[in-house]
Amino acid sequence: MVSIVYVTNTGSSKKYAEMLSEKTGYSCYALSDSDAAVGSDVVFISWVMAGTIQGLSEARVKFGTLKAVVAVGMMKSESQDASLKEKNNVSETFFSLAGSFDIKKLSGMYKMMMGMMMKMLKAKLKESDEPKAKEMVDKFEEGFDFVSEENLGELVEFLSK
Ligand SMILES: Cc1cc2nc3c(=O)[nH]c(=O)nc-3n(C[C@H](O)[C@H](O)[C@H](O)COP(=O)(O)O)c2cc1C
Repeated sequence: MVSIVYVTNTGSSKKYAEMLSEKTGYSCYALSDSDAAVGSDVVFISWVMAGTIQGLSEARVKFGTLKAVVAVGMMKSESQDASLKEKNNVSETFFSLAGSFDIKKLSGMYKMMMGMMMKMLKAKLKESDEPKAKEMVDKFEEGFDFVSEENLGELVEFLSK
């Protein structure tokens, strides 16, 4: 039996978990309420915070070797994938998905961290006048949402094998 277990802060990992559950028929649980998934093969979906896949260590303790680890970050990039795998010691099958970002949905420490990052980006922009940096600042200020069912294609294919 396969189960989907997720950790989310602003909802995008939960959205992916629910979409995947709908597509595959596998049950999905929040890690904090996932006792029913113990004993099954777990697809673990969680968000990335400063390079760390949240709740991954806890999930490994609870479920043992995971069937797949799915990291939800700002965007999908091959270079980040390599560093995520290394930093989080991922030997399981690994996928990454582009999530969403909205500073208004953040609070406390996370809001502070991202507020600082946006300030740093703005300062850099002033110095370098790089068009890419400006694009990024605009994106962060407006917020973005890349969550889409299409992004689950490879993962669904893997699970159907
Ligand atoms: C404090 C903080 C740090 C973050 N660090 C990263 C990061 O290192 N790499 C990345 O790709 N995304 C990073 N993000 C973006 C989140 O992973 C992204 O917004 C994700 O979609 C959140 O998932 P959720 O909606 O399930 O909480 C960070 C977000 C916050 C708030």
